Amino acid sequence: MATTETTEQAQRGSVAAEGAQTLSVTDNRTGKIYELEITDGTVRGMDLRQIKVADDDFGLMSYDPAFTNTASCRSAITFIDGERGILQHRGYPIEQLCEQSTYLEVAYLLTFGELPTQAQLERWVFDVTHHTFVHEDIKNLFETFRYDAHPMGMLLSGVGALSTFYPDAKHIDDPEERYMAAIRLIAKVPTLAAFAYRHSLGLPYVYPDNDLDYAENFLSMLFKKTELSYEPDPRLAKALDVLFILHADHEQNCSTNAVRGVGSSQVDPYSAVAAGVAALYGPLHGGANEAVLRMLRRIESADNVPDFLEQVKNREERLMGFGHRVYKNYDPRARIIKQYIDDVFEATEYNPLVEIAQELEKRALDDDYFTDRKLYPNVDFYSGIIYEALQIPTEMFTVIFAIPRTSGWVAQWMEMNDDSEQKIARPRQIYTGDRDRDYVPLDQRDGPEKITGPPARRPKRQRRGA
Ligand code: ACO
Repeated sequence: MATTETTEQAQRGSVAAEGAQTLSVTDNRTGKIYELEITDGTVRGMDLRQIKVADDDFGLMSYDPAFTNTASCRSAITFIDGERGILQHRGYPIEQLCEQSTYLEVAYLLTFGELPTQAQLERWVFDVTHHTFVHEDIKNLFETFRYDAHPMGMLLSGVGALSTFYPDAKHIDDPEERYMAAIRLIAKVPTLAAFAYRHSLGLPYVYPDNDLDYAENFLSMLFKKTELSYEPDPRLAKALDVLFILHADHEQNCSTNAVRGVGSSQVDPYSAVAAGVAALYGPLHGGANEAVLRMLRRIESADNVPDFLEQVKNREERLMGFGHRVYKNYDPRARIIKQYIDDVFEATEYNPLVEIAQELEKRALDDDYFTDRKLYPNVDFYSGIIYEALQIPTEMFTVIFAIPRTSGWVAQWMEMNDDSEQKIARPRQIYTGDRDRDYVPLDQRDGPEKITGPPARRPKRQRRGA
């Protein structure tokens, strides 16, 4: 609890209180000093409100566009130490999870907080496997999309539409409804993703195959042709499962914040997760691995890497797949992905882009320009190369990201709903517009002669063939 004191009292107090878990703030407008409690390395934004210049003053607010230094919640799901390159889910290091677990087990861990027992895992896997089908009307909905609809836009609509098929999901405090929503979302998002992909090719949709595991079934729904049963290469299925684990959750990123923000209105979980899909659709969030592939193609050969790095240092280029807002060390997810590259290439056609990527990494890690700025490969540096080897088109990269992230969104949504400190998300603003203007009738308005209209049309997007 914060207290207000005179300057003199506070000066005495600040000596006595050395080592106390408080922050003394002097308001130079009034000379008053306030003691703000420090808890878990934070001060409460609401404690600033008592800092006023007059009784009728609203009180001080903090200004933090994009929440770059604001904790919006308490969370026990994912721990990241960006300086040391550490990522843990519910306390378990990502390296151990990738090596010893499966994506579905990690999804259980994220959702319920503990690794499952054998019986719990069997029930969970059974339930997910037996909810992978979507209502035929969802299939019909997808069929109404244009032939060149972006699969992420289709996924966004599909996830939003699910809320209308399961209206009881609005009972967000009912444990049974919550469980079913978690199961249905984790089970059906791959089906929607694969249907969207098949739609873009004009191919019939492939129904889920309950004899396959989660990653295998997804590959089957993407690639099955006329064979009775699709048999995925186990090396590819394993690599995909590991990619799913790596993308399952990453604490309060843009899409998770969107799920929490929208979910804070107490809307049903399908609508909240649809908000997460929408956020992930944006190029600043889900699109970097595609940019890495474009960069590698432009570089063309490993011989051109030194020249390219010079251009980066001259700020003419950006080294895509390097650097991270949180990781100031090697992104642990990039290190893990790298281990699966050889396995994937054993099972697929070799992708020569990997040589350019490896040369870029080797030289950049040996160059003060990059190490001084703590620029290391991030998860996107190698993931695009693997997706491409799996013959997944670039438009699907973000869609594939959404599949595992669904479990993170669900876990974060549940945690938010159980958090008694949470309320409907409603930030403040600093108003910068005009005030108290009188309405001007149309015939009395002056203005520039030029008529304001929509900007000139851009050339139409190049269409792909039907
Ligand atoms: N290539 C070249 N220089 C870079 C790069 C890069 N990829 N990233 C950062 N820098 C430089 C900056 O120019 C800056 O240099 P300066 O101090 O001399 O001006 C310095 O490194 C610090 O960079 P910031 O801009 O402060 O880093 P920030 O945390 O804002 O940016 C970001 C992080 C956006 C990820 C950035 O590193 C970047 O653009 N990387 C390439 C895109 C990318 O790979 N994105 C995927 C991130 S992972 C994910 O989202 C799943």
